[in-house]
Amino acid sequence: MTNVPSDNVLIFDTTLRDGEQSPGATMTHDEKLEIAEMLDDMGVDIIEAGFPIASEGDFAAVSEIAKRSKQATICGLSRAMVKDIDRAAEAVRHAGRPRIHTFIGTSPLHRAIPNLTMDEMADVIHNTVSHARNLVDDVQWSPMDATRTEHDYLCRVIEIAIKAGATTINIPDTVGYTAPRESADLIKMLLERVPGADEIIFATHCHNDLGMATANALAAVEAGARQIECTINGLGERAGNTALEEVVMALKVRHDIMPWKSRVDTTKIMQISRRVAQVSGFAVQFNKAIVGKNAFAHESGIHQDGMLKNAETFEIMRPEDVGLSATSLVLGKHSGRAALRDRLNQLGFEVGDNQMKDVFVRFKELADRKKEIYDDDLIALMTDGSDAENDRLQVKFLRVICGTEAPQSADLTMEIDGVDHQKTATGDGPVDATFNAIKELFPHEASLQLYQVHAVTEGTDAQATVTVRMEEDGKIVTGQSADTDTVVASAKAYVNALNNLITRREKTKPDAE
Ligand code: KIV
Ligand code: ZN
Repeated sequence: MTNVPSDNVLIFDTTLRDGEQSPGATMTHDEKLEIAEMLDDMGVDIIEAGFPIASEGDFAAVSEIAKRSKQATICGLSRAMVKDIDRAAEAVRHAGRPRIHTFIGTSPLHRAIPNLTMDEMADVIHNTVSHARNLVDDVQWSPMDATRTEHDYLCRVIEIAIKAGATTINIPDTVGYTAPRESADLIKMLLERVPGADEIIFATHCHNDLGMATANALAAVEAGARQIECTINGLGERAGNTALEEVVMALKVRHDIMPWKSRVDTTKIMQISRRVAQVSGFAVQFNKAIVGKNAFAHESGIHQDGMLKNAETFEIMRPEDVGLSATSLVLGKHSGRAALRDRLNQLGFEVGDNQMKDVFVRFKELADRKKEIYDDDLIALMTDGSDAENDRLQVKFLRVICGTEAPQSADLTMEIDGVDHQKTATGDGPVDATFNAIKELFPHEASLQLYQVHAVTEGTDAQATVTVRMEEDGKIVTGQSADTDTVVASAKAYVNALNNLITRREKTKPDAE
């Protein structure tokens, strides 16, 4: 291999491209910047920040991520077209380490779409990879649907891409079709047969349609691949991609049988997992490996007894290794500012003095309503989307009447540009009535795409976090809020989404800079 020590594996995160591409997982510009910064800080080697030709928004996000990047290589995706490659090059050019990733479908089914012969496609590959390589030194090429491409043709086109200047060859299992032994055999075969294969890095990019993405990626590494493409929480098209947290922890926990290291700081996993779940609106299933709520929970008596005597009885990794604190019962109504700041720092939040004032007030309000404040409550508090100083819309008062008799009604007072407005509306349930009242006070054409509620902790006094996603003219905004009252959290999340919509409209006005 050229530039990766043989005992290292590069981690290529595509949460912001393949992950964000999955229907409904759209993130805002600021959310993408935040996730990219977290990925960079945790030691991810390459961040695929987006698909610059896809939209102005994608281009802007990739270029801003490139400008802000620290250690990570920033990669932009492009089809096998000169205009795509130029756009990707333009977007990543400010990165300390820019990469262009260009791809074309090489399997018989994919070749039929542009209706190219094998020879014609080989020419396209030569021309596009050469073009990319003239723009940047670091070019990744992918034969999409590689696992269903004829081996002879795969070897031929990979050789062409290497000769044209590709430095990484990615082997996508685009439809999640392969299995571990086949995944390993494919990499082995390519390393043996393709001239120049030992000069480049082979990457593995697996989808999870048959639930084998992590196993397939690790099998490819055993066979010689030195880059794993993955996403936080396994987000991605259909059943998703290989989960970053799974491969990274598997390499760490089973170093005895998989002796390859990644640079990822695993203690940052939980924080980014929670944030990606929040901004994408894709909740993590409770029993998801590594990051699920139950991944470290021991319920049965036998397990609890064993854990008390020796944690290793039932635990192959420590919760702290993934950034979960040993205790999650933290603060209460008598806790002071210093204790709150300390706990927030431990959870990975750097809070400035001004922000701290506001957070402390909200913490005290919460502690008045809820006796025990857990880590998850603090995280919910910190990720509440509202901004009292700048929001044009604010919920001031809400009372709902609900019960077995329909319709339910909501009496809402909302501040709009500093002036209070009141409305009573009815609906099919208290949330519907509340949303109707909001819409009457602030009429708009945006459609509701997602309304999602989660209990943050156990108990009937638990906070609910609510995510609302809305769409207007193809643009997606999300809103989030948390409250011990589910209807109040819903109203605030909806209003938060509307405030984000207003900001977005202002930014995209024709005369906006
Ligand atoms: O799954 C896939 O084939 C992809 C390519 C664009 C690499 O995501
Ligand atoms: Zn993919």
